[in-house]
Amino acid sequence: MDIKILTVDDNQANLDTLRFLINDIDFEDDVNLEVIEATNGNDALSIALKKNIALIILDIQMPIMDGFEVAKYLKKSSKTKDIPIVFLTAAFKSEEMREYGLHLGAFDYFLKPIDPLILVPKIKLYIHLYSITNELKNSNKILEQKIKDAIEQNSKMEAQLYEAEKLSSMGEMIGNIAHQWRQPLSVISTAATGVIVQHEFNMLKDTMLIESMETIDKNAQYLSKTIDDFRDFIKGDSDEKVVFNLKEEIEKCLDIENPILKQNNMEVILDLDESIEINSFPNGLVQSLINIINNSKDALKEKKEEKYIFITTKKNDKDIDIIIKDNGGGIPENIINKVFEPYFTTKHQSQGTGLGLHMTYNIIKDGLNGSISVKNTEYNYNGLDCKGAVFTIKLPI
Ligand SMILES: Nc1ncnc2c1ncn2[C@@H]1O[C@H](COP(=O)(O)OP(=O)(O)OP(=O)(O)O)[C@@H](O)[C@H]1O
Ligand SMILES: [Mg+2]
Repeated sequence: MDIKILTVDDNQANLDTLRFLINDIDFEDDVNLEVIEATNGNDALSIALKKNIALIILDIQMPIMDGFEVAKYLKKSSKTKDIPIVFLTAAFKSEEMREYGLHLGAFDYFLKPIDPLILVPKIKLYIHLYSITNELKNSNKILEQKIKDAIEQNSKMEAQLYEAEKLSSMGEMIGNIAHQWRQPLSVISTAATGVIVQHEFNMLKDTMLIESMETIDKNAQYLSKTIDDFRDFIKGDSDEKVVFNLKEEIEKCLDIENPILKQNNMEVILDLDESIEINSFPNGLVQSLINIINNSKDALKEKKEEKYIFITTKKNDKDIDIIIKDNGGGIPENIINKVFEPYFTTKHQSQGTGLGLHMTYNIIKDGLNGSISVKNTEYNYNGLDCKGAVFTIKLPI
């Protein structure tokens, strides 16, 4: 380690003495010592500023700028204020001066003529202190760099994570769109092939043609809307909130569902409050209802007796209830807690993805600020004992 000691005295003979004395000191092996001399205060200050000084041995009685003044300036600069100062002065100076020197921040105060037995151990001590401080500074620097590196790495990782999350939410979105598209695509295909077949056999009536085209058009519109909705949902766009009539929105959703429900002899029984207006996201709600109704449809498919789906809306003090009930037999109690989990399905054979209710749950909770719950219920309708699942959606007013 390079150690520089600055000696300041207007008397060259004193500087020589100090140099011999210092050069004679037995320092640790790694110390590379240099004694720099200055014969006046100005030189001392400029050297102290430029060089990395470990210790200053400073004479007090000097012409122009005395040692005290030099010390005062040294204390003023951040570059030099921490350099230890040892004052040297002629023995006849008073105790007062000694106090003044210490008050200025000097570490020590020695009398001339120099007594090596006193000065040498002190110099050794200061040099030792300096090397320790230096080491500390260095390890601080290393630590700071390590912290910087760690922070940098962390933010890099965060960026990667963000990208990964974006990808996975895009993947999820595509999965959701695919899920939401299966049904309308099959309706469109059924309607189109129906028209072709009837045309082949010369059975195609105008009313049938128009009805089929309307079905295709409605479902195609729904397809394009789902993409926009999902994009908005992922972007977190909440500005497209609108006030809508709940009954009208449910009817819209039945427009999409009805062809398939009729085909399967399923009857939808409505009890809708006409007066309910909601300020929310109607498309998210329609998607949710379609998912729930599709599940009812799946549950009712194999049933021999009458197949019912009941949709009821109610206005309470604080919220609005949308209740969807079927008589499809209900959900086994051991899995009813899992139906909102992603990828939970019992329809492995019919290629259920298990995303329907999970999406619905997220849309209702995050998109519409509401809640959804499910339980099984038993009731009697038109003399028929019914059992099925009942979903309750609660939306804030
Ligand atoms: N009305 C219902 N009656 C009986 N079981 C139901 C009903 N609704 C949901 N379930 C059960 O909950 C499970 C999860 O439903 P979810 O809609 O999330 O997925 P899925 O219908 O299996 O698959 P996908 O929606 O992709 O076709 C279903 O597999 C079914 O076992
Ligand atoms: Mg489903």
